[in-house]
Amino acid sequence: MSVALEPLPFPPYRELGNETLRERIKLAKSELGKSLLILGHHYQQDEVIEHADLNGDSYQLSKLAAESVDCRTIVFCGVHFMAETADILANRPEKLQSRDGQRVTVILPDLSAGCSMADMAGIRQVEAAWKHLGDMIDTSDITPVTYINSAASLKAFCGRHGGIVCTSSNAKAVLEWSFAQRKRVFFFPDQHLGRNTSLKMGITNAEMPVWNPHDDTLGGNTEQAIKQSRVILWKGHCSVHQMFQADHVASFRKNHPGIKILVHPECPQEVNDIADISGSTSKIIETVQNAPAGTKWAIGTELHLVNRLKKEHPEQEIHFLSPLVCMCATMYRIDLAHLCWCLENLVQGAIVNRIVVREDIAKWSLIALERMLAVK
Ligand code: 13P
Ligand code: SF4
Repeated sequence: MSVALEPLPFPPYRELGNETLRERIKLAKSELGKSLLILGHHYQQDEVIEHADLNGDSYQLSKLAAESVDCRTIVFCGVHFMAETADILANRPEKLQSRDGQRVTVILPDLSAGCSMADMAGIRQVEAAWKHLGDMIDTSDITPVTYINSAASLKAFCGRHGGIVCTSSNAKAVLEWSFAQRKRVFFFPDQHLGRNTSLKMGITNAEMPVWNPHDDTLGGNTEQAIKQSRVILWKGHCSVHQMFQADHVASFRKNHPGIKILVHPECPQEVNDIADISGSTSKIIETVQNAPAGTKWAIGTELHLVNRLKKEHPEQEIHFLSPLVCMCATMYRIDLAHLCWCLENLVQGAIVNRIVVREDIAKWSLIALERMLAVK
């Protein structure tokens, strides 16, 4: 196998057209057989999801990467932090040993598929904040918790400091675990998931100061606010879910009596508080699947998932919660052309767009991820 060390220029695959790409992807998949596993996040486009062997939310996809047995290559149709997590879990020491040291190669079809929320917290900023916090409170009293939507270096930070990773489907259980260890939590990068989950646990906004990494004066807080904190929230958010507003909920309730509002916990508190149900992408899917025909929904999460639910459940009335187009532009970068390109390279024995987490970072990230996987 040859491995491209620098990102290779992307050839003009799009010119082939979707039908040809679809056929060529199928052919490449059949040639690669069981050694290939294509994972797809629920926000991927339908054309891409069609080729995924397994779909899921962030938590399910990390478990699938952790459990993979036969596969030697994972092509991750999702975003960068997901591929990093897959690399860490699929190549953890006991897995490597069971394969006589052979690594699972993880590929992200387009290396520019990042996550704008993950980019809102850099490791230098988190370390600087930790040091500032240490000038005011005892950091051995704080459990650092990183949302899985973060760079591996932040997961490693949590691993090193007795902390843990969470996803949108286990955030409450992870916070309970965290409070069983220490009396405070430092939660990054998504303030909304941190706040919405903590509010449900009886923690008040007065106990949740928001740390702004761009404000040199105690992250924009008073020393007293930090001292009385139970959860310190990072000032980060998802640019997609930030767009859903309380007005949208009010307007649907007014114009569609009986409608139920179903949202992702990355939405702001004003929306979460008044929604009927809030949950991860998998919970959103299960809720719709289990509802009786004729149920009316306004759903506040990424557009591709809502459109897929509409298509798959014509027996229900499904609306997108915002009048604006809220789609994850980075997830959308994974398309048939990139998928076909990386699969055809694999068939030729070449690896493009490989994601490898540095060994020391992987080691500490794994500790934080394993703590999460052990939380029930
Ligand atoms: P889930 O963990 O619910 O799949 O969400 C991932 C994500 O990026 C939501 O924006
Ligand atoms: Fe990141 Fe938001 Fe896209 Fe999820 S939807 S991957 S949080 S930018």
